[in-house]
Amino acid sequence: MEKGSAEGVRLSILTNQGFDNIIIHFFPKGLNVRDTYCGTIRKEHVDTTVTLAGWVFRRRDHGGLVFADLRDVTGIVQIVFSPEISKEAHERAGDIRSEYVLKVTGKVRRRPAETENPALPTGEIEVYVSDFEVLNTCKVLPFQLDDEDIGEATRLRYRYLDMRRPEMQKVFIERSKAYTVTRDYLLSKGFYEFETPLLTKSTPEGARDFVVPSRLNTGMFYALPQSPQLFKQLLMMSGFERYFQIARCFRDEDLRADRQPEFTQIDIEMSFVDREDVMNVNEGLVIALYEALKGRKPPEVPFPRMSFAEAMEKYGSDKPDLRFDLPIVDMTHIFQKTEFGVFKKTIEAGGAVKGLILKGKTLSRKDLDVSVETARDIGAGGLVWIRMDADRALQSPTVKFLSDEEKSQMISLFSIEPGDVLFIMSDKRLRVSELMGRFRLYLGEKYDLIDRALDKFLWVIDFPLLEYNEEEKRYVARHHPFTSPKGSLAGFDGDYDSILANSYDLVFNGVELGGGSIRNHRTEDQAEMFRLLNIGEEEAADKFGFLLEALEMGAPPHGGIAFGFDRILMMFLGLGSIRDVIAFPKTQKGSCLLTGAPGRVGPRQLAELKIRTIAD
Ligand code: AMO
Repeated sequence: MEKGSAEGVRLSILTNQGFDNIIIHFFPKGLNVRDTYCGTIRKEHVDTTVTLAGWVFRRRDHGGLVFADLRDVTGIVQIVFSPEISKEAHERAGDIRSEYVLKVTGKVRRRPAETENPALPTGEIEVYVSDFEVLNTCKVLPFQLDDEDIGEATRLRYRYLDMRRPEMQKVFIERSKAYTVTRDYLLSKGFYEFETPLLTKSTPEGARDFVVPSRLNTGMFYALPQSPQLFKQLLMMSGFERYFQIARCFRDEDLRADRQPEFTQIDIEMSFVDREDVMNVNEGLVIALYEALKGRKPPEVPFPRMSFAEAMEKYGSDKPDLRFDLPIVDMTHIFQKTEFGVFKKTIEAGGAVKGLILKGKTLSRKDLDVSVETARDIGAGGLVWIRMDADRALQSPTVKFLSDEEKSQMISLFSIEPGDVLFIMSDKRLRVSELMGRFRLYLGEKYDLIDRALDKFLWVIDFPLLEYNEEEKRYVARHHPFTSPKGSLAGFDGDYDSILANSYDLVFNGVELGGGSIRNHRTEDQAEMFRLLNIGEEEAADKFGFLLEALEMGAPPHGGIAFGFDRILMMFLGLGSIRDVIAFPKTQKGSCLLTGAPGRVGPRQLAELKIRTIAD
């Protein structure tokens, strides 16, 4: 730690308050209210006089002396009110309460050896107060800041207090750092930063839009962007070649631990690139963020790649968690002539039988019953388990239905050993993979198979271009309709499920961090895509006419990607919910407990907009 110069100082603070390795730039000279930050004082400052400003974290009255912890954004320092230093300050210190805001002047002293606190970076010193001013008082708080069990609803209701807590301060200081790392990296790679409209037309990401009524255009609505997708493509057509935006996106979808209705993307688009170019540049960005946020060496680049087909087949997920093995294995061939009714029926209907083996764990009968229940909760019709006992015999309620040939094939396929448990499901091919994928994750958690010390990045590539939407009974774009196919679609009349896309998702420890694609840049290719999607010319012109028009005027080949910025923070900081990295997040029901949004709109405002609601 150094004391500042006029240019400012780079300060690294390592503390148990969660402020590990944070770099803060500050400008101590010329400040009027304070001259030193609480968390920065060290034994080198002994005998100097400092003026501090901050909040009273805790206060302890020891009769003769009053102690308090003073906290600012850099950390905590112990301050001492002693009648020997200032009788008047000591007397007034009796009135100080938690979270009072103080300006304090005093002399730095070495703490007596037995009272040093090695857990605190300022633990070797304390500040003896000669004078102080109460800049503000504080009512009794709805919760104590150092209380470990504050419910999330209370935290969100009083978010500004919640965010005073050192662990929350760390998160948002890290978030601030991540913006800088992102900008520094992308600017160094020749990207230009843009802003695109928030009041716009519906964008093609496929979720529901949030809409905003237009007063000047009665009965008309803007849509808030689900992403800047179309604008970033237009900027390629404007010739900027490398675009980025730290962009706010809005999607009216069901919320989960990793989803918010408004969230931030690092949005990127590049011209004259292929898929590898986009992946290479973006691996650089992701590892720069990893290094900055995790403070450790990132995994090697290039990240491994896996096709969607392999990911589904082996891990039952398009975002496999590779921190543990436990691949799903196709067993259909073993049961081609089976007498076991469930498998027989599934195979005759074109379905598959799949298994995975849990080795080296001792499972009780109760554990096995719980796994059957879990499989049902996951959505499986059933789960077969088979355990090998010490005499190498297979035990299972199902075993009596299986032939010796089937049993010996299973034993050799999975190299089953005593104690191992084989779990089997059967269903439609894709469905059984998905179910087994979820079951695999359950086993991973439950039997502690995940190596938490590992971090695994993975590019999943070659997604299907289209997917069948059961609700709408038609094919829709799996990514969005501007994604280009691998190969040409001209005259295509085959199996829609077989067309692959020029797309890629980045997965980290089983969570999708980002996704993108190489786009159609020629009108005729885009027209073929609309043909497959059954989008007529009129509909296409109405929704995306401006983009289609621009494609006709010298659009360069281009492609891009968007990362969930909040998701990256959540994952790299090891937090369990996206709400923990958003300053003022919404609840699962999409409301803000602090402001009370969404709220009702008065009759006058509605009248101006010429809107009548039918909700009561
Ligand atoms: P996509 O829809 O895959 O692609 O979104 C990209 C990334 O944004 C994050 N994300 C979310 N984060 C929090 N809450 C949400 N509701 C939410 N929805 C998405 C995810 C996801 O991987 N325009 C394309 C990108 C492109 O083609 O360039 C797009 O938005 O981390």
